[in-house]
Amino acid sequence: MKFRIFLVVASCVVSLITGFVISRSGSSTEAVGARAKPLIGLSMDTLKEERWQGDRDLFVTRARELGADVLVQSANSDDTRQISDVQALISRRVDVLVIVPHNGAAMAKAVNMAHDAGIPVLAYDRLITDCDLDLYMTFDNEKVGELQAQFLVNHLLKERTKKIVRIYGAKTDNNALLYKRGQDKVLTPLIKKGEIEVVHEDWTQDWRPENAKKIASAAITKAGANFDAILASNDGTAGGAIQALSEEGLAGKILVTGQDAELSACQRIVNGTQAMTIYKPLSQLAKQAAEAATKMAKRKPVFTLGKIDNKKVEVPSILLGVVVVTKENMMDTVVKDGFHKAADVYRSLPDAQGSR
Ligand code: BGC
Repeated sequence: MKFRIFLVVASCVVSLITGFVISRSGSSTEAVGARAKPLIGLSMDTLKEERWQGDRDLFVTRARELGADVLVQSANSDDTRQISDVQALISRRVDVLVIVPHNGAAMAKAVNMAHDAGIPVLAYDRLITDCDLDLYMTFDNEKVGELQAQFLVNHLLKERTKKIVRIYGAKTDNNALLYKRGQDKVLTPLIKKGEIEVVHEDWTQDWRPENAKKIASAAITKAGANFDAILASNDGTAGGAIQALSEEGLAGKILVTGQDAELSACQRIVNGTQAMTIYKPLSQLAKQAAEAATKMAKRKPVFTLGKIDNKKVEVPSILLGVVVVTKENMMDTVVKDGFHKAADVYRSLPDAQGSR
């Protein structure tokens, strides 16, 4: 099945499973009527990682095409700042709020504040827990973890116990827990059978590559070069881990996973220092979220694809499909989909043609 078609089919199948309609009316409804264009407030955790700049640009472009204006705030991984960003957006009388939470639990307060002002909230990519959230749009995050771990298991030698290092994401991000849950599904039975041994594991504060590098260095101090793979939860942490490996002459000798199909990760994959990444078609997420947010801003109903429990309510949710990317299918996935240009991905190779 062609890649694009696969993604469309995957999301349509999910959408047929359950259909829910969400809408919230409140005091800001009058503001929508009085204003020529709907106003969307986008509160982001950070813009430091490549993926989030892409999300922002795609979201804003699609919202503008739909005739909406967007006010964007970025909290630089700081909960207090993200709460004040949301307060500022509420006082600008936005018609809907789209939040990428730094901390999914801490942002429940922001959702409550928005609701007090009659503003509906869409959680983008990361869940906001313990609140009456209106809509959640993301990728199949547990599947991401499963695919990372399955890749690792399939690509390690079979004849002896495999030693691995696990680098998780930020504990404050619900997605990081889901990635781990998906990885555990694959790994726990093998760990119990003694086929895999975890020699070191840790959580990466704020998903920062420099923190992941420290975790990888601690693993090297503990196990020397005596491990086979680093199960890194995203490309940022993979990048940090690979720096630590490089300093010890181990880059390319130890399998490293990732996620996000960041350009630098795709370059590392074709150069052989990272084994895989997961491509999450951000344009689908950002565009569909902009469409949903514009409808919510106009107090029009949104049909969703399922429901996810956020510990308080079953949140109407939309989950999109993901794809494993390796050296072998780089051209047929991220390049074919226009996510990166071949010239950029293969730029750092001495003989670009011959290496493909
Ligand atoms: C996102 C990942 C991203 C990570 C760090 C997660 O919530 O789903 O795509 O790599 O945050 O920003």
